[in-house]
Amino acid sequence: PPRGPLASWLGHVPELRRDALGFLRHSRAAYGDLFRIRMGPRDVLVVASPEAAREVLVDKAAFFRKGRGIQKMQPFLGTGLLTAEGETWRTHRRLMQPAFHRAALEGMAEAIVASTSPLLDRLAKAAQSGEPVDVGREMLHVTLRAVATALFGTALADDDLAVVERELPPLLSRTADRVRSPVDWRLPTPGERRAQAAGAALDRVVHRIIAARRAAGSGGHDLLGQLLAARDEGGTGLSDAELRDEVMTLFLAGHETTATLLTFLFLMLARHPEVRAQVQAEVRAELGQGAPGAAQVRALPLLQACIQETLRLYPPAWLLPRQATGPVTVGGVPLAEGAHVSVNVFLLQRCSRHWPEPGAFRPQRWLGLTRTPDAFLPFGAGARMCIGNHLALLESALIAALVLRDFTLEVPGGGPQGLAAGLTLKPDGAVLARVRALPPT
Ligand code: HEM
Repeated sequence: PPRGPLASWLGHVPELRRDALGFLRHSRAAYGDLFRIRMGPRDVLVVASPEAAREVLVDKAAFFRKGRGIQKMQPFLGTGLLTAEGETWRTHRRLMQPAFHRAALEGMAEAIVASTSPLLDRLAKAAQSGEPVDVGREMLHVTLRAVATALFGTALADDDLAVVERELPPLLSRTADRVRSPVDWRLPTPGERRAQAAGAALDRVVHRIIAARRAAGSGGHDLLGQLLAARDEGGTGLSDAELRDEVMTLFLAGHETTATLLTFLFLMLARHPEVRAQVQAEVRAELGQGAPGAAQVRALPLLQACIQETLRLYPPAWLLPRQATGPVTVGGVPLAEGAHVSVNVFLLQRCSRHWPEPGAFRPQRWLGLTRTPDAFLPFGAGARMCIGNHLALLESALIAALVLRDFTLEVPGGGPQGLAAGLTLKPDGAVLARVRALPPT
């Protein structure tokens, strides 16, 4: 149909709003792994091949900065790892990296297991009453608790946790709305004012915990203790304001991503009861009744394969936006300074060149693999790769193992069939599960 001036100014925004994934899949089928879309006044090059993604994220990363979607998080996040660029990013990443090493995370397993107990209580009650549970909501609760305890350890009082649980979710959803909006202005709407009040309440808690931790001396198993202890070569550590921004960043980056991974994992296992039975047998044989440790859950091959396969089909961070800082080519396509690029992890990980039956949930394909396949980038790649990847995998495996050891989650009717592709990729409706308790091992 003929397009009026508004429609042509909006470009593909209406199609993307209506069904972003459908539109992107059709475009890939028609134009291949590199194609352009129009978003308002901007042209965006969509990158869906592992080779071109590698150019953007690794080989030619010096020619790119984070794209507009991430830049728009700055009012809430300040300058944390996700949004920082240049020397600030490099210094912070160097200071923070050791706290996220696999070895440093071993000590956090206990705190993660402890933060799972309210979830297990809820599931036990649901199994008795027959009430369905909203898996997505439960996973948001448990991962918020887990990331908060991983960050603050025992410094997090129950009152503080209550403030975080009350204020953070509306703030995050407001941030997501801002990122999705094609315009940048922020009107003082009730939602915006509510978000600002929530931000201020959270800031007070975060600053109080930082001050208390500084006074008590750094160290300990929690991330904040390790960040307080981190010093660069000049002996300088992160200031309180910098720590605040990093804490907010870790909340944003580590909460909903891990929750959606777990939600999709339970959805997939409910749709594939034969796989679920095998995973449950593996978990129950290996874990016994005690609290599992990091090494124990890493040694559960089928559970790990199910997590990888879920991340392949449903990468929570499905888009990686970038902006060129100078002239550069991607897949042979010349780009000018300021050009927008969007690495589409969702399309890339469902590419039939790299994955036989790309749309099928087949965890077995991961068993026995010795290296990570090129067409698998759920945590990004290169220097800006997710700093929390080991934490996310440890947390998901611990939570999944604890649930699967004692409960079966059944999703009558197979749950929502569509996907909601916003800031993260989610099922397009509630995943309601019926819970059955298993006899003790
Ligand atoms: C960056 C995915 C969990 C902290 C990223 C990036 C991806 C990603 C794809 C790269 C973004 C880009 O290149 O534009 C995920 C997924 C997770 C997860 C799928 C869960 C399943 C976590 C957790 C934390 C975390 C648990 C920390 C508590 C970060 C930070 C960055 C980041 C700080 C920015 C790193 C930098 O630029 O130096 N994440 N993440 N993430 N993630 Fe994660």
